This record gives sequence, structure tokens and C-alpha cells, in this order.
Amino acid sequence: MVAPELQVVPDLPALHRAGVDEFSGCAHEAITARGRFAVALSGGSTPKGVYSLLAEANNLPWDKIHFFFGDERNVPPDHPESNYRMANESLFSKIVVPQQNVHRIAAEMEAGPAALRYEAELRAFFGAAEWPRFDLIMLGMGPDGHTASLFPGSAALNEDSRWVVANWVEKFNTYRITLAFPAINHAAEVMFLVAGQDKSQVLQEVLRGKTQDYPCQRVQPVNGRLLWIVDKAAARLL
Ligand code: 6PG
Repeated sequence: MVAPELQVVPDLPALHRAGVDEFSGCAHEAITARGRFAVALSGGSTPKGVYSLLAEANNLPWDKIHFFFGDERNVPPDHPESNYRMANESLFSKIVVPQQNVHRIAAEMEAGPAALRYEAELRAFFGAAEWPRFDLIMLGMGPDGHTASLFPGSAALNEDSRWVVANWVEKFNTYRITLAFPAINHAAEVMFLVAGQDKSQVLQEVLRGKTQDYPCQRVQPVNGRLLWIVDKAAARLL
């Protein structure tokens, strides 16, 4: 397991710019080497500014980029809580990307079948590999140390064979669909984007603490890069 790399930036706009730079660098490297870039987008609010800046720059070969999702809420794609809707509004709707390149989780379905369907789509894309090797997985971190939809105490934390699972999230009284840790940990690169003072205590414990209780601490790429891009507010206790 490689040591996590930490990049501290002044503020949220700088974090968005750093996220765009990393995304673009990974994309160019993957497309040069393999003719395509497979990226799993994060949900939540932090990465929205990255997606908007990517759309504004509009300087990437979108036809060679395949967009996946690290997780999704169990809602239709037009629902306010949908990660797809957020990515569509901030990015997909503003660029010309082939529809087949956007691999949406069909979260309007029941969570179990949606997870099976998404895993089948991943297996079709990544072929007969034991695990998917995303070129980049973007992740966020919640104040409880969750990432994707891998929440503390949830069953999916222990998944070690499925790539994608439906995960019951008690605190929200709902299912989510999420990549499981092995699928995340076989990526070529995982990039966390974390901003805001409300994350500072948990970030300190995750990166510097003695406990290993937080789900995001289980993100340990087996043969890939682990990069944390955080703003000064989130990093204030480091
Ligand atoms: C989601 C994300 C989730 C998110 C964190 C941080 O579906 O919400 O996958 O893991 O990244 O909750 O969210 P913020 O960026 O909004 O703080």
C-alpha cells in the first residue's frame, strides 16, 4: 500500500482547480497509454465545482472518457439528491459526450437489482478482470468518515467479492448503491477532495489518528496512488 499524498490548498476554489488539474492529468495519461480514461465521479457537494470547471474548460477528448459513479442514492436521475443529476447539471449537459460513455447507476430501480445491473455494466467494460481498474476514482469524506456510500457500521464495509452492492444506511433509513472497497482499492488512483472546517476533526483522526475505525481509512489502493486534496480549513488540525 502506498503512503497517502497530501495536497493542502488555500480554499475551496483552489481545491476545485487542483481537482481539475489532477483529473486532466490522469485523463491525458490514460488516453495516451490506453486510448481511454475510466473515471468514477464522486457525489456530494464538494466536487460540483470541479465538474463545472471541467465543463467551462471543455478541453478534454470527451469521446475517450468514460464516466462512472462511485455511488448513488436510491432515487431517480432527476431527483434533487441524485449524484447523476448533479453531475449532469454541472458537466454532462454542458459538453458533447457520447451517451454510452456516461455509465449511470439505474438507481430508480430497487437497490439490489440496480447494484447487480451496474456491476454487470462494469464487468462488460473492464472485461474478465478480477477487479475493475479505474484510472481515477474521485471520493469525498463525510463528517462521520464515510466515503462513497460506505458508512460506519454498514454491511457493505465487509464486502470482499462483489464490485457493487446495495447498502442499507440506517442514519438515512434508505438504501444506497456503492462500489465496495476492493473495487475502489484496485484503481490506478484515488483522489479524495475534502473541504471545510467541519471536516477538520475527522480528517485529523483519519490521517494522523491512532484509530482505524473510519470507512475512508479502508481506501488503500493495492497498486495505485492515493491523493488527498484538502483546503486549509479542513487541514487546520493536521
Ligand atoms: C455522496 C458521496 C459521499 C460524499 C461525502 C462528502 O453520495 O454523498 O458519495 O460520500 O462524497 O458525503 O460530501 P460533501 O462533499 O457534500 O461534503
